[in-house]
Amino acid sequence: MSDWFALTTRGLEFISERELARLPHVADLERGYRHVLFSYRGTAALLLELRTVDDLFVHVATWDGIARPRSTLEQLRRLGGLLDLEVGVAMCSSVRQIPVRPAFSVTASFVGKRNYTTDEIKAAVAEGIEAEHGWPYQPNDGAANLNVRLFIEHDLALVGLRLGSAALHERPYKRVHLAGSLKPPVAAALVAMAELRPGDRVVDPCCGVGTIPIEAALIGAVAQGGDRDVEALNGARANAAAAGVAVRFQQWDAQALPLAVGAADCCISNLPWGRQVVVDADLALFYQRSLTEMRRILVPDGRIIVLTSTPELLQAHGLACENQFEISLFGQTPVIAQLRML
Ligand SMILES: C[S@@+](CC[C@H](N)C(=O)[O-])C[C@H]1O[C@@H](n2cnc3c(N)ncnc32)[C@H](O)[C@@H]1O
Repeated sequence: MSDWFALTTRGLEFISERELARLPHVADLERGYRHVLFSYRGTAALLLELRTVDDLFVHVATWDGIARPRSTLEQLRRLGGLLDLEVGVAMCSSVRQIPVRPAFSVTASFVGKRNYTTDEIKAAVAEGIEAEHGWPYQPNDGAANLNVRLFIEHDLALVGLRLGSAALHERPYKRVHLAGSLKPPVAAALVAMAELRPGDRVVDPCCGVGTIPIEAALIGAVAQGGDRDVEALNGARANAAAAGVAVRFQQWDAQALPLAVGAADCCISNLPWGRQVVVDADLALFYQRSLTEMRRILVPDGRIIVLTSTPELLQAHGLACENQFEISLFGQTPVIAQLRML
């Protein structure tokens, strides 16, 4: 059995798998829907530095036969009691302090129809663990010492213990969050798509609170961001300071960037979708003008990576789409597109 699993955003599994494959001592990678299973013989603390995964768990069990009827709740209670958590707790203890009788939370999600709810799954598993281990159940994950995670896909449940004290997607630097702001692992995935070389200059013309340039700076890029919204820019500066990275932020209009030809090696952006974040101009015109500007400021072999819910608007003069795929985000299915200059 694999001894770890990472949970990811739907559509980004292959990027997380690629990130994991680069780590020493990782083997047996197995990619599935919203998750990657793997074996790892290195230092556990290194796994807390993964950037594109939502969260990471010591794999403590796989349960089969988790079916639709309500009688499954009794089965979950029983299986919760049978869980062997010793190795998982030892692994978590190698990166942080865990009390002898840890307060534990349970998180559950499922794919497939059920005659019971996630709250009922959590309660059933928690009862089993409480009865067997004598640990106190803490419904508030933020106050728990350990998190037991159930990821149920149809009849199969992956059961894990979260390695870190908080989910990996909750970056401590993200102090300011505005509507439409990206989950950091998605920003990190966009950055990973760009396959940056050390010192590459990255520009995000619509940076919001700065998630993309901050993730780029954290892996060594020279990052710069701008936005028309002053409140967003103040948030971006606060977030970058908390992340301990130097990113230049500037107020501008993405349709007329105050940057010279060849000022960037790569543009990476989550362009406005015209729903939560509206643009002043017609959305099609906004896309055409801002993509033309990105093209102008890029070096000849420059790359553009964009996340958008309107990929049909990406056809700007002089750009070709090299790669495009769908992800799940904010209850929608936007695409990540990789463009290059013709
Ligand atoms: C989807 S949000 C970006 C969110 C960002 N990736 C983050 O994580 O916070 C799009 C951003 O585009 C900005 N925007 C809209 N029109 C703009 C324009 N003409 N020039 C520059 N930025 C603009 C909005 O203020 C908003 O912050």
